[in-house]
Amino acid sequence: MEAFAAGGRLQRCREAWLGSVSGVRRALLAGEGHGRFLPAAAAAWPNAEFTVVDASAAMLERARRRWDATARPARVAGIVGELPRWQAAAGAFDLIVTHFFLDCFPPGEIGAVIAALAAGATPKARWLVSEFAVPARPRFARWRARAILALAYGFFRVATGLRARQLPDYAPELARHGFVRRDRQSFEWGLLHAEWWERGCADDPARV
Ligand SMILES: C[S@@+](CC[C@H](N)C(=O)[O-])C[C@H]1O[C@@H](n2cnc3c(N)ncnc32)[C@H](O)[C@@H]1O
Repeated sequence: MEAFAAGGRLQRCREAWLGSVSGVRRALLAGEGHGRFLPAAAAAWPNAEFTVVDASAAMLERARRRWDATARPARVAGIVGELPRWQAAAGAFDLIVTHFFLDCFPPGEIGAVIAALAAGATPKARWLVSEFAVPARPRFARWRARAILALAYGFFRVATGLRARQLPDYAPELARHGFVRRDRQSFEWGLLHAEWWERGCADDPARV
C-alpha cells in the first residue's frame, strides 16, 4: 500500500497531528509494523515513552532496526502481542496510535480490538487514527478508492491470509468508549485520512 498510495502520502497521514498533539507521556502504538511512525513520534514528543505492540515478531524486528538506526536513547518497549487477546494495562496510556491498523479487522472483531486498546487509555487520552476511506464524492474519487481497496484487500488476503474484506466502521466503537473526533485531514481525493480523537473533551467546540 505504501507503493499504491505513492509512498510519502501514507507517512503524511501518520504525521498529520504530530504538531498539534502535545504533552504525550506514554504512547501505545498498535500494529506499528515497519516502524516508520516511531522515529517521527519520538522527535515530536521527546519526553514520551513508547510501547509498540504487533502480532508479528518480524515486523517488530523491522521497527526495532529502524529505531536503532536513529541512535536515540531507548525508551521504547516492543511487545509481540495479538489484539484483542493482548490487553493493555488499565489506564496506562495517554495516547493510542493506530495507523493503517484498524483496517485489518472484520466488522465482527473491530469492537473487541477497540475495547482492548481503550481499556489501556487514560480518561483524557488522545487517539490518532490513519485509515483508508471511500469518499462520498466526487464519483471519480469514490470509484478510484473502491478499486484500490478491492485490489489491496485481494492482495493481502492471498499474501498474508487477511480475513477482513472491507474497511470497518470503527467510529461508533471509539465513541462507545468516550472518544470524540476532534479533527480530520483528508488526502488523495479522500482515499486517506488522518483523525485525532480525544476522551474527556465533549464540550470542545473544535470537535467534528
Ligand atoms: C497494514 S500493517 C500497518 C503498519 C503500520 N502501522 C503502518 O502505518 O503502515 C498492520 C500491522 O498490524 C499487525 N497486526 C495485524 N493484526 C494484528 C493483531 N491482531 N494484533 C496486533 N498486530 C496485528 C501486522 O503484523 C502489521 O504489522
